[in-house]
Parts: sequence; C-alpha cells; structure tokens
Amino acid sequence: MSEIRIDPIKKFSRTLLCAPDKSITHRALMFNAAARGKSEVRGMLCGEDCLSTLECMRKLGAQIELNGDRASITGNPEFASANLYAGNSGTTMRLLGGLLAAKRGEWVISGDDSLSRRPMKRIITPIELMGGKITGTDGHAPLTVKGGRLHGIDYDMPVASAQVKSAVILAALGAEGETRIREKEISRDHTEIMLESMGVNIFRSGGEIRLCGGQVPQAVSVLVAGDISSAAFPLVCGLITGGEVTVRNVGLNPTRTGLIEVFDRIGADYEITDINAACGEKTGTVTVRGLGQAKPYKIDKSMMPRLVDEIPVLAVLACFLRGESEISGAEELRVKESDRIARTLELLRSVGATAEETESGMIISGGNARLRGGCAFDAQGDHRMAMSAAVALAASEKGGSVIGGECAAVSYPDFWRLFS
Ligand code: S3P
Repeated sequence: MSEIRIDPIKKFSRTLLCAPDKSITHRALMFNAAARGKSEVRGMLCGEDCLSTLECMRKLGAQIELNGDRASITGNPEFASANLYAGNSGTTMRLLGGLLAAKRGEWVISGDDSLSRRPMKRIITPIELMGGKITGTDGHAPLTVKGGRLHGIDYDMPVASAQVKSAVILAALGAEGETRIREKEISRDHTEIMLESMGVNIFRSGGEIRLCGGQVPQAVSVLVAGDISSAAFPLVCGLITGGEVTVRNVGLNPTRTGLIEVFDRIGADYEITDINAACGEKTGTVTVRGLGQAKPYKIDKSMMPRLVDEIPVLAVLACFLRGESEISGAEELRVKESDRIARTLELLRSVGATAEETESGMIISGGNARLRGGCAFDAQGDHRMAMSAAVALAASEKGGSVIGGECAAVSYPDFWRLFS
C-alpha cells in the first residue's frame, strides 16, 4: 500500500477536465450491453468500479472492445449464466441484481470486503415483491439471482437511493404489467434519462415513475461528461486555498448539483459558463474564485441525494467557513464504501479541525485560515475519503500523507496528478 505525500499548497489554481461521470458510465455500459444493437460509449470513466461493470457485462455475453476511453459494444439482451464480480462497486451489484432478476439464468454476484458489508436487503425486498428470486447472505453479498417471471409493483422508496430505484426500474423492464415507483426525495435520474433515449417508455411526474414491462432498450451511443462528484475535490481545494479553479465539461444534471446549491448558500465566488447538453444531461464549466466572507451552511435530508458523495469534502470546506456548519439527515453515509460520518470526523480531527458527531450527521466549527495537518490519514479503501484527505492536507500548514491513496482510482484515476 502506498503512502502519498501532500505538501501544503498556497493557492491551488488549475484549469482541468475532471474524471468522467461514474454513474453515467456504469449505465451506458450496462444498458447498452443488455440492449439490441451496437453502440459506442465515448469519454467513459476507466475507473475500477466501471471496469467491474464492463467485465460483468462481457461475462453475461455482450461484446465490448475497449480502446482508451471508448467502448464499442454489441449488445446481447439474452444473458449467459455466470459468476460475476462487482469489486468495490455498489452500483454494479445493485443494478445488476434488478436487471438479472427478470432474465433467464442463474447468477452469483460477489464483491470485495467493503461491498460485502453494504446492505443489499434494499434491493432484495422490492425484487421479491415482484416475484423475483434473489437471495443474499443475511441481507448482504454474495447475491444469488435465479431469473424468472416478475410482475409489476407499486413501490414507495423507503430510502432515497438511485441504485435501488434503478434496480427496480431494470427489473420492471422485464416484468409483466406496470410498475410505479414513488420517491420522497428525488435521487439522480440518469437511468430514466438514458432508458428514455433508448426508446423505453418511462413516464415521470413529480416523484412518481411509471413503466410497463416487456421493453427491450435499443442501443444508443453515449458521450460522458465530467463527474460533479469528482469535480468537487479540485473545486473545494481552490476555494479553501484562495486559488482559482476551472473544471470544464462537468455534468450539471439538477439531481446532482447540491454542491452548487451549497456554493450559493455560503456565498462563494463562482461562475458557471458554457452551458450545454450531452445525451439529455446538462453540462457546463464551473469556475471558483474564492470564499471571501463565506457563511456556514446547513445541509439536511432533503438535499442529501443531490450531494451524497460530496459530504466528506464539503465537511472539509466547512472548516474554512466562519461559524458552525451542520449536516443532518446523512444516515446513508454510514453504509457507503465506509462509514463516512465516522471517517469524516476522524479526518477532520486528525487535521486539527473541531467537529462533533450528531445522530444523523455532524456539526463542524469553522473559521480556520489554515488547518494544522501534519498527520497520516489511512483511506482504508474508501476513494472519496482518500481524496477528501488530500484536499484537507493541501490546505493545511504542515501537509501530510494519505495511506492507501491508490483507491482514488475507483472513481478518479488521474486524481493524484492534481497534486504533482
Ligand atoms: C449512485 C448512487 C448513489 C451514490 C453512488 C452512485 C448511482 O448511491 O452514492 O456513488 O450511480 O446510482 P445511492 O443510490 O445508494 O445513494
């Protein structure tokens, strides 16, 4: 395991393209591999999670050629039975669980230690309600799926989770009759947007989604823009070191832009230009220029789906805002690649910040001009914790190191180049 040294940076100023969108890459690979026809996915994320999806889809029978960041796919809606490995990727495992349930065959989907600790009951329950045969080990991976006939259901989402919603939508595609899904807080809608572009009839209004079974998506080529959850790291690093950072071609789907809402709330100096669209997804260039007298923030449950992966780095940002910032309704963070509430508090304290844990989040006391740093933070296999630590250390007096930082490659393979 490597230990990556991060020196303090006076003003972190960069113009860059960040890592491509992980959620969109997973879906583009998975849905096209399960579709009728040929397609190309360009500008895809070649991070470990998405490569897990790619390998699973090859095992299921799709032909996928990978050239740099371009995948040429010949889809195959009839899947071969296989043992599948999802690595560290919750998206791969949960979406596949739904997709396979209505196909013919038998599959076992396993994952690494972290993924094997994450809850899978959340997809097992709705798939069982649809008549599907999917079992875990005490609600965890490995999952065994015995494909068969499913029927549509009316489902009120008990958690705000795009992975669960997508699993139900994918199962519904192969089910008899109509499925209705209702969400209290609307989670990222890349699945709905992409399936629509693949000719699937899927109706949405407010928090309700309706679709009928018996639909096979038609392959569609996809161009993947930057991932706002990855852009968050250089953007926050720029803000807290007083630098100017521009990230070009970032996905700005409104179900993902909680980060920008936080920039608005605190009064950060930022700008969005070059607004465009790629495959039904809004994109743009985001520039940050500094914090000035930025105010602390409050983030609650209603915002959580729009910034769930950005919480650790937003907690680092809070250290530099004058006053107390509060994050609540963040229970879902406890079941990500690590318990990100506990690990974020550990990170903040080890770099010299003051923060306290609450039932559903944390309160962070800000106002630091610089953090102390001078520590070694162990990422323990969680990519977003590794990258959040790098940002905090870059904005510290002494710098420090990130142990096991190579896990950043799960979502941002070029991340460490930002600091070299
Ligand atoms: C994702 C959804 C989110 C997010 C994850 C990717 C997706 O998880 O944290 O990184 O691609 O659907 P949940 O849906 O479980 O909240």
